[in-house]
Amino acid sequence: MINEAEIRAAFPLLKRELHNTPIVYLDTAASSLQPQRVIDAMSHYYANSHANVHRGVYGTAEEATGLYEGARHAVGSLIGSKHPAQEIVFTKNTTESINLFVNSWGGTKLGPDDAVVISIMEHHANIVPWFVLQERIGFELRWIGVDGNGELMLDNLDELLTGAKVLSVTAMSNVLGTINPIAELAAAAHRHGAIIHVDGAQSVPHLPVDVDALDIDLMSFSSHKMLGPTGIGVLWARREILTAMPPFLTGGGMILDVRTDGFTPADGPSRFEAGTPPIAEAVGVAEAARYLKELGLDAVRDHEQALTAYALDRLFDAFGDELTVHGPRDVARRGGVISFTLGEVHAHDIAQILDSHAVCVRPGHHCAKPLMRHLGVPATARASFGVYNTTADADALVEGLRDAAKLFA
Ligand code: ALA
Repeated sequence: MINEAEIRAAFPLLKRELHNTPIVYLDTAASSLQPQRVIDAMSHYYANSHANVHRGVYGTAEEATGLYEGARHAVGSLIGSKHPAQEIVFTKNTTESINLFVNSWGGTKLGPDDAVVISIMEHHANIVPWFVLQERIGFELRWIGVDGNGELMLDNLDELLTGAKVLSVTAMSNVLGTINPIAELAAAAHRHGAIIHVDGAQSVPHLPVDVDALDIDLMSFSSHKMLGPTGIGVLWARREILTAMPPFLTGGGMILDVRTDGFTPADGPSRFEAGTPPIAEAVGVAEAARYLKELGLDAVRDHEQALTAYALDRLFDAFGDELTVHGPRDVARRGGVISFTLGEVHAHDIAQILDSHAVCVRPGHHCAKPLMRHLGVPATARASFGVYNTTADADALVEGLRDAAKLFA
């Protein structure tokens, strides 16, 4: 069970006011808040142990290296990685993790006769890198459709996967909240000899995720959506896949040897971590992973699912047919992301009125334009929940929206 009072007290930003009103933060799908212990862990690192990693032999340099390498274990343990020292690569964010995978793996394993399968509910981060590589290599990009309920259309999955080398899909839509059947998708990909890469940006912070149980091959996610700092993301990949991937970003820190006739890359994750890495951020994401583990992802999911059910009920009670919520109505099939339109009111106007109530939501296309086109809307307003949100936050959303409905009636 989530102790709401205790959790809210742990997040200093929740003490903020906007326009003399206590903040109601409903933009966790864009970026989560951080608990004080994550901020403290990073401050403590800077005040006590900062040095560059993998270089110095003095005490603090070894401490910094220990903290940085230890972060792979904390993060790996959250997602069920059996070999975190060899499987967890630190990047800048989910987008960089996907670019690393697409360019390194895709750039060497794909040819003009191959196919890549993605879905139309993907974030641009899991679309644009494929387009750029496609221009260079010329493979076929195939798309899984989305049905009227906001779920993947899997009837023709076998057809789409025939001759495909990779399936790359989100575990949870950042617009619809839809939770995709990743284990089923992984089994289908493997049946066809393809590998599966999962965009876990929206799932890792909100659902129990076990990479072994799901039997997936690679997963990308970001620290700043999982109660950690910005500036660090993760690419998890099975050892045998990572070992066969060539470097993507190159320079210092990612080599075994450099000569006048070439270089030998390092083994393991450091092959992909050129330059000084985000050390304080690794300390921060490790603390965030430990915090999430202590809360328990089952409890986090239960809390957010109950809150989503409450919010949907209140929204439909208040606005009826004026309200369109995209994505599954069944809260067992969706996370705490509610994208909606209200009558003819523009999403940006909704967000502006909500701001005057100190309610923070994101308006726009949510970096998912193919999906928005499919939904037939240029923009939605999106309220998204984190573990620190309560039914009072959902009530504030409804009250703010009443104001928007009145003003634009
Ligand atoms: N990908 C983030 C979002 O959906 C930024 O808002």
